[in-house]
Amino acid sequence: MEKMPYQPDLDQPMQPASQATTSDWRTAMPVLVGSKVTLRELEVSDAPALFSMLTPEEVSRFISPPPTTVEGFEKFIIWARAERAAGRYVCFAVVPHGMQTAIGLFQVRQLEPGFATAEWGFAIGSAFWGTGIFVDGGQMVVKFAIETLNVLRLEARAAVANGRGNGALRKLGAVQEGILRRSFLKNGQFLDQMLWSILAEEWRQSNVVWGPGVIH
Ligand SMILES: CC(C)(COP(=O)(O)OP(=O)(O)OC[C@H]1O[C@@H](n2cnc3c(N)ncnc32)[C@H](O)[C@@H]1OP(=O)(O)O)[C@@H](O)C(=O)NCCC(=O)NCCS
Repeated sequence: MEKMPYQPDLDQPMQPASQATTSDWRTAMPVLVGSKVTLRELEVSDAPALFSMLTPEEVSRFISPPPTTVEGFEKFIIWARAERAAGRYVCFAVVPHGMQTAIGLFQVRQLEPGFATAEWGFAIGSAFWGTGIFVDGGQMVVKFAIETLNVLRLEARAAVANGRGNGALRKLGAVQEGILRRSFLKNGQFLDQMLWSILAEEWRQSNVVWGPGVIH
């Protein structure tokens, strides 16, 4: 029987992320270390911290509704690990240097088998906005998506009204492609979304000229 989203897959062994390398991400997520944050596999023990970071209104108002309980986050984490093992989706926990707990996440899901086209999304606790954590983590996720998942086109959708979300994508060099009219139902209201993309080809070219990270 096909598994429903958020359904725990108890057959999946929980492997410590630190044993992973970037090439075997289906077995366990690698640990990516930046200047401000470490990105690592979600652990079920991240659920309480993610619940408190991602459920406040200022964080969740423009994104798909996060789970409403700690148990809901635990189920999401188990589901995320099962999807990673199946090779369809990856999710990184964001852990600032000097901390042990997750303060946000970055996720990438394939839009077609093999990840050639994929979509990413992210959310960080509001206490950490404007700190450079997003850019540090975001650069590593884009590099991982292109170099390890072999993404050719990385899409993102952000509600037009989401100033920070759109500003953050622009800073990472994403290109604004157009408006998806009435594409996102939130609290009974249809919102327009901005469609953004990063192309692997452009990202690689900009790395040659500018060094790794932001596309200029
Ligand atoms: C999206 C998110 C991860 C970005 O992290 P962040 O730390 O806020 O991002 P940054 O501060 O590095 O970048 C945001 C940029 O948008 C700019 N910005 C803020 N409000 C803006 C507005 N109304 N219009 C345009 N730009 C705006 C900021 O000034 C900043 O640019 P700057 O550093 O050049 O000044 C974080 O805001 C978040 O978790 N938001 C809630 C979840 C969410 O909306 N996710 C995105 C879904 S697409």
